[in-house]
Amino acid sequence: MLGWHDRGVEHPEPLYQHRYPSPELEAQHPFRTLEFTPRDPEEMAQRAETFATFMGQRRSPRLFSDRPVPEALIEAAIRTAGTAPSGAHKQPWHFVAVSDPGLKATIRVAAEEEERVNYLENRMNAEWQEALAPIGTDHHKEFLEVAPWLVVLFEQRYELRSDGESRKNYYVKESVGMAAGLFVAAVHHMGLATLPHTPSPMAFLRQVLDRGPNERPFAMFPVGYPLPGVKVPDFARKPLAEIMTAVTRPTPG
Ligand SMILES: Cc1cc2nc3c(=O)[nH]c(=O)nc-3n(C[C@H](O)[C@H](O)[C@H](O)COP(=O)(O)O)c2cc1C
Repeated sequence: MLGWHDRGVEHPEPLYQHRYPSPELEAQHPFRTLEFTPRDPEEMAQRAETFATFMGQRRSPRLFSDRPVPEALIEAAIRTAGTAPSGAHKQPWHFVAVSDPGLKATIRVAAEEEERVNYLENRMNAEWQEALAPIGTDHHKEFLEVAPWLVVLFEQRYELRSDGESRKNYYVKESVGMAAGLFVAAVHHMGLATLPHTPSPMAFLRQVLDRGPNERPFAMFPVGYPLPGVKVPDFARKPLAEIMTAVTRPTPG
């Protein structure tokens, strides 16, 4: 078993000068050894390809089936989302999963009213409308009622403790965005679909779902089976060369 700074016999010099956790830190806060499964390079390459291809098949439908989805699947997706990294491990998120038809109807009505003002009364400026044109969204949000589940993700701007004390949260948007990404991936992985939906402004969700003053709606996610034969915009992803810059060791000569 290698010690905390050992690189093995062929590298007798330590890789790190600074130990983590320091003995003082470990005496004050609990630590455990990371469980990590080493894989050989071929297996890693294969897993990487398989996952990239699988995630590349994810799309956001705008017509869902009304076929029921067991609550346990929604719980599993939220459990996955809850494994996201977060600033100072504050986990500043809360998911409200709604299957109640009356509540879904209330949310649809409120969302459609906000979107009606956005689309029909020009709260959305021309540039925004132009960007949305290829998607063709409008103020009709029937899917909010038809999809069996509506998961509303709230960001916790600060922590509100049970004794009424509050504490700061850090990097809230970044952290909640990561949880949202994992949620979307988990839903896709289990064989369901979701659409991130943001009927801005979303303040009505805090009232309708009776959430505390420290919470703000981040996005909502209808979850279910896509309606058979549903169409989605024929979008391509940006090529790797456009989204990645590799900075590597300069080649000699
Ligand atoms: C933060 C965020 C907000 C979004 N809001 C909406 C929305 O309000 N309505 C909608 O129809 N799609 C919404 N989308 C979905 C995007 O339009 C969609 O992800 C994008 O067109 C790419 O399509 P794909 O998800 O099928 O790959 C949103 C996506 C994100 C990430």
